Order: sequence, then C-alpha cells, then structure tokens
Amino acid sequence: MTILTEKVMTRDWARPGQNTLAVYKQHGGYAQAKKALELAPAAITDEVKKSNLRGRGGAGFPTGMKWSFVPSLEKNTKPRYLAINADESEPGTAKDRFILENDPHLLLEGIAIACYALGAHTCYIYSRGEFKYPSAVLDKAIAEAYADGIFGKKLMGKDFELNVYQVRGAGAYICGEETALLESLEGKKGWPRLKPPFPAVVGLFGCPTVVNNVETIASIPRIFEKGAAWFSGLGEAKSGGTRLVTLSGSVNRPGTYEVGMNTSIRELIYDKEYGQGLPEGRSIKAVIPGGSSAPVLTADEIDVKLEFDAFKPLQSMAGSGGIIVMDDQSCVVRSLWRVARFYAEESCGQGTPCREGQPWMARLIRKIEEGRGEMADLDNLVNVAQAIAPWPPIGLGNTICALGDAGALPVQSFVQKFRKDFEEHLRLHRCPLGNAPWGHFGEFK
Ligand SMILES: Cc1cc2nc3c(=O)[nH]c(=O)nc-3n(C[C@H](O)[C@H](O)[C@H](O)COP(=O)(O)O)c2cc1C
Ligand code: SF4
Repeated sequence: MTILTEKVMTRDWARPGQNTLAVYKQHGGYAQAKKALELAPAAITDEVKKSNLRGRGGAGFPTGMKWSFVPSLEKNTKPRYLAINADESEPGTAKDRFILENDPHLLLEGIAIACYALGAHTCYIYSRGEFKYPSAVLDKAIAEAYADGIFGKKLMGKDFELNVYQVRGAGAYICGEETALLESLEGKKGWPRLKPPFPAVVGLFGCPTVVNNVETIASIPRIFEKGAAWFSGLGEAKSGGTRLVTLSGSVNRPGTYEVGMNTSIRELIYDKEYGQGLPEGRSIKAVIPGGSSAPVLTADEIDVKLEFDAFKPLQSMAGSGGIIVMDDQSCVVRSLWRVARFYAEESCGQGTPCREGQPWMARLIRKIEEGRGEMADLDNLVNVAQAIAPWPPIGLGNTICALGDAGALPVQSFVQKFRKDFEEHLRLHRCPLGNAPWGHFGEFK
C-alpha cells in the first residue's frame, strides 16, 4: 500500500483557529510570500515550473507554463488579472470548499505570490454560488489580510498594490469553464468564448488573465516553503505535489483525502486510511475517476495511479479528483442517465451539438433504462455522442467548450465498457436490476 505519510495541503486543517489570520501567522503563515516577494517575478514563475505543479481544476495543465504565456509588459501594456476558480461544481468533487473553510489564508498567500509573479494588481476569486459558509470564511480572511496590511496599496510592505475580491456565482456549472467564468465576472451571461485567443493573452476585460483553481494556487506557498525540488519529488513523473481527492459512492468511508500521486485508485478505495473497501458482499462494477465528466473505468482498470499522465493509456483523466465507486448492485445505465441529465441541464445552449445532443442522449438513456428502447437507440446514442466529441482519444470535442466532451465521454465510455448491460435492458425490456421507471422528471424524459 502506498500511503502518503507527509500531509502537505491538509497538514494544518485540524488546528483550532487555522482559518484565522492570527493562528495562520503564528505557525509561519505568510513567511513564504515574504520569501518569494524577494525574488524577481520571472524567478518565481521558474520555481513554479520546476515544481511540476499542475492545475487541479480538471485539465492538469502545468501551472508555471500557463503563467509564462502572459505577455511581458513591454509587449502588452494592459493590466493583467488573476482569477481564482472556486466554482467547484463538477459532480463528485468537494475539495476546494474545504481549503476555503479550513485554510483560506493558504490560498490568499498563494494569491499574493502568484499576483506578484504575474504583475497582476487585481485578483478575483469566483466562488460557487451555493458556497455560503466557505464564502463567509473567505470574506473574513480577505478582510483580515487587508486590515493587517497584507493586501492593499502595498503588498506586504512592497511597492506593489494588490486588491483581492470574492465574487459569488449564481449556481451555473458552466461558469466554472474558464472563459464563461470571465464573462460572468464581466457581468454578462456565462457563455464560454471561442479559443484562441486564450485568456493568458485576451482574458478579463480583454486583458491578459490567468485562471487557476483554488487547490492549484493554495499549493504555491508550499513550493516556497521547502523548494521546487522537494515539491516535485513528492509527486510522480511530471506531476508534482500531492492531490486532494473526493471519494464517494459505494465505499465504507467516503470523504476528501490527501493522497500521494503514486497512490492507486484501488488503494484509495480499499485502504484503511481511506475508503476501507465496499460494503459487505459488494464488489466493484465501475469507477468514475475524475469527476463525472471523466470516462468510466472498469474494475480491472483501477490499479492506475492518481498521477495526471497515468490516465492517458486508459483514455480517461484524473480531472478534478472526484472518484465515484459503483458496485455490482448498481445499474450502470441508470447511473449514466443521472450523469447525462446533469449535462443536459447545464449546457449553456450556445452551440447546437451540445444544446440539442445532451438532452437527446439523456432521453435515449432513459428510454433504454425503462425498457422502452430498441437496438437502434443504442447506436443512435453512440452516434450523437460521437458527433459532440469523438472518443477515443480524449480531447477531440467539436463544441465551443469542453462541456460538450464532459457529457459525451461518459456516454461513449459507459456504452463501450458495459455494452452488455445496455443490451440486457433492450432484450428484457426492463432494468435487469429491477429499477422501476422514474415517473416524470422534467423535460429530459
Ligand atoms: C464545463 C466546465 C466546468 C469547469 N468547472 C471548473 C470548476 O468548477 N473549477 C475549476 O477549477 N475548473 C473548472 N473547469 C476547468 C477550467 O476551465 C480551467 O481549466 C481551470 O480553472 C484552470 O485552472 P488550473 O489550471 O489551476 O486547473 C471547468 C471546465 C469546464 C469545461
Ligand atoms: S459546448 Fe455546450 S456548454 Fe459549451 S459553449 Fe457549447 S453549448 Fe455551451
């Protein structure tokens, strides 16, 4: 078993008062920002590059590299921005909220370092609308940082102004997509933008902008605590640090855990430190490895390590770390219908393949699950998904943003890996596990 002995992100969460500035500072808080702010901005970015920190929001993009795409002030004199993605709406994912609740100053310290490196004088933290408590804790922490002279006209006494604001979303999953987030920050409807141009060049208010996830930026102070080499060494291959993952579904001990990149999904599910296995008499049928948009894995594929690149051969992704376990008594068709309904509901409607395709897929899956389907529906289902985003390989989406893929890839992977279950529904004209029809569930029936 590969158990992480050194906790990095969650290290201080149990300390009473850790979410207050007084306790945070008492235990070395903001010392890393002080240290980093002595460096030249480019040296900070280099250190982040060397740490192999990769984005924890879903795509696992190398953070230092993303920062280096922001044009220099000589080339582009516009103001630059940092936007923190605290929208956390991917089904199965609950980690950023715990950073905000337990250690908000860790994020704020990371913001201080990142903004200084990027030359950004303004940072917006875009929080999920439903985050009532986490947002309240964050607001208090921001106010404390201002009162202490950390933020404001002089960032920690340096001749560098930094203002940090929290902006609350209104419950739309699409606003977690980085360009929809920027539109929403600008006060507009959260419709994703066509890329390129990418936000690093044309972002918020048409200015260079870096969008990073909460966990990504909260990792930055740790890099400066013990150095990029240490941080990189904690991880595996090209994925530095540790990861926060959310384990849910059919396990004895669901929860949010900090794991090493070399921990496998099997270890996470069965180890006594983590999931403690499935309820008695159950066995694994399927596992969603990275939030509901990640292609599903079979029970034979769960020896994969939680490191970002390890998922490539499986044509899946580490995503946002939401790991959902389904057992042999759960119906994969029914589970897929639940996922499909979410994406149908959350499509922003801007583009035809996604707007029309997601509800279409949801309707077809429901038809199959309820025993009203025929073989042509299964072929149709795969065809619709292929038209939105061919799979494999991952990342070929035909839509404006990756929500198209997010809805299509689960469908393709479920049907490919569990085709027999779908066919059984068609043959028996009912769910083999005895699930009754659902009755009326809104428009995606
Ligand atoms: C539909 C959709 C929803 C997303 N939701 C989130 C989210 O809630 N939080 C997040 O950090 N990233 C989310 N992302 C990914 C962001 O677009 C972006 O890649 C990420 O915030 C970049 O930060 P990182 O490089 O630190 O991972 C979403 C992407 C898509 C397509
Ligand atoms: S893919 Fe879907 S969510 Fe994304 S822009 Fe197109 S319609 Fe909107």
